[in-house]
Amino acid sequence: MPDIESLLKENRVFKPSKEFAKAANWSKKQIKEYRSLGAANPERFWAKMARENIDWFTPFKKTLEWKPPFAKWFRGGKLNVSYNCLDRHLEGDNAWRRNKAAIIWEGEPGDTRILTYAELHREVCKFANVLKQQGVKKGDRVALYMPMVPELAVAILACTRIGAPHSVVFGGFSAEALRDRINDAGAKLVVTADGGYRRGAPHALKPAVDEALKGCEGVGSVIVVQRTGEATEMQAGRDLWWHELMEGASAKCAPAKLDAEHPLFILYTSGTTGKPKGILHTTGGYLTHVTTTAKAIFDLKDSDTYWCTADIGWITGHSYVIYGILANGATTLMYEGTPTYPAPDRFWDIIERWGVTIFYTAPTAIRTFVRLGDEYPKQHDLSSLRLLGTVGEPINPEAWMWYHRVIGGRRCPIVDTWWQTETGGIMISPLAAGVETKPGSATLPFPGIHAAVYDDSGASVKPPNGGFLVLEKPWPGMLRGIWGDPQRYKETYWGTYDKKYFAGDGAHRDKDGYFWIMGRIDDVMNISGHRIGTMEVESALVSHRDVAESAVVGRPDEITGTAIVAFVTPKSGIDSGPALTQELRAHVTKQIGAIAKPAEIRFTDALPKTRSGKIMRRLLRDIASGKEAIGDTTTLEDYSVLAKLRESDDG
Ligand code: PRX
Repeated sequence: MPDIESLLKENRVFKPSKEFAKAANWSKKQIKEYRSLGAANPERFWAKMARENIDWFTPFKKTLEWKPPFAKWFRGGKLNVSYNCLDRHLEGDNAWRRNKAAIIWEGEPGDTRILTYAELHREVCKFANVLKQQGVKKGDRVALYMPMVPELAVAILACTRIGAPHSVVFGGFSAEALRDRINDAGAKLVVTADGGYRRGAPHALKPAVDEALKGCEGVGSVIVVQRTGEATEMQAGRDLWWHELMEGASAKCAPAKLDAEHPLFILYTSGTTGKPKGILHTTGGYLTHVTTTAKAIFDLKDSDTYWCTADIGWITGHSYVIYGILANGATTLMYEGTPTYPAPDRFWDIIERWGVTIFYTAPTAIRTFVRLGDEYPKQHDLSSLRLLGTVGEPINPEAWMWYHRVIGGRRCPIVDTWWQTETGGIMISPLAAGVETKPGSATLPFPGIHAAVYDDSGASVKPPNGGFLVLEKPWPGMLRGIWGDPQRYKETYWGTYDKKYFAGDGAHRDKDGYFWIMGRIDDVMNISGHRIGTMEVESALVSHRDVAESAVVGRPDEITGTAIVAFVTPKSGIDSGPALTQELRAHVTKQIGAIAKPAEIRFTDALPKTRSGKIMRRLLRDIASGKEAIGDTTTLEDYSVLAKLRESDDG
């Protein structure tokens, strides 16, 4: 692990501020107490959290039933997620929250909407009734393909109210990607919008749904939110306007009393094969995990205005724009558009205008802002901020320092949070009242989480050596499976080490036991904090008529973390000029989405392979990143390929 060396040189340490610690939701003493309870008896710790932070219609009888690798948490318990996110903030001692902002929303053109807890509750009940009218029953899957508008939050919570698992598909995915996901989940209904705003212009979404549904038999109706007002084709008998349906809907809808293990949602993420995995999360465990971590790590208070910049189409948006934040009764800010529209100071302008106190974003965004220059944040008063967070990829210490200095004014603690779509909630992170931070380290596992670093043989490695990040014990927010594919679930996560969860990340610990995450060790690339499988991009490329073979690798990129480089062997007689490059990039965008578009395409007559025919990706990675020293090539079948590949570098 070559990066270890450089990270180990990082020896700056930041102590928790006394002032922050004094007022924190979790005091230093409590953190200590929870850590020892979580270490000695994680089940007892999580049961305590579930009772303290969640409202149950029927209390659970058994905290955990663990038949590796299948876990059931909080057996016998009955609850409802929308009840926990909404109703309980309208009643009893909390009734004052009725007219508190639940969602502050800002559209890219500058339009704004505020939904109070009472209003959000009403909208959610109405939409739950609309879903019922459309024949959606408990257990039916609903696909959501939407821009960042409040209706997305409403739709999500309405699904949970009636026990219909949602499958949110990021609006940046293509029609093809949407179709695969709708079919895989067997969704019955799709909620979408005419479009949303991106980079100053309306960006249509509905046409992609029309295209996707050409191959979906199971979808009976499509509900369309009017956001941009652009002309939108509506198919009679199938497509319905959100606002028309909502007009007549009743605002009374009792929350379904659901089993703790009732499926809550499916969210697709890339794996090492071409087919995305439908990660399944369930009700009680997930909600306990995200609510507890949001309260402790973000230190959420009633006076906070919290902003997580992630799109709801990703797990970060599910857990920490919606569920974990609303369950705590906090105010969550949602922004529709691009960070640099109409000017590079948009984020800082939003923070100043709304008085954002907690800000959670991705290292790729931070690196972009570093490059844009300090003058943009300096135009704004950012003194409302009191805590900063990062997620999605390792943050380089210099970007961390910039975040600390320029955005945090040296006073805000930074929580670098490690977790995954599969983990449901944050797993490794500082706790601002009690953990010293080191730039670039996610620090220590959350209480009750048992993380470790193993070598190939499954033995714990000694600091400071590197190895594979594993989770040794089940945790409440863990995925319950891959939708429709228990075998793949077992192999991917539990097949490497016996009864231990294999995260797919490289990591090492320092002498203080701090975790330093090194990034993916499988064929999954982390592009701007989003996972894209190399195989997915390869499948997209070879589906083009001119492509014979392709191999896709990641190379380090200053802004996006990783950039996609595709090595492509065209079919014989095909002209591999710039026109083909353009066409292939557009083709990948159409197949998967713009996020998977290769930054670079290199044409080659042959790919480097071993004698057994395996593509030597490590070699390609070295070539793509322009590394001089090419590693071990003793298994390479045809040496001339290497020379040709180097020549293919068009600079
Ligand atoms: O490689 C790790 C990286 O993101 C992966 C998970 O991606 P995804 O499921 O899309 O979820 C991202 C948001 C939770 C991990 O396997 N990753 C996530 N957070 C960090 C990170 N790498 C280093 N430091 C982090 N804080």
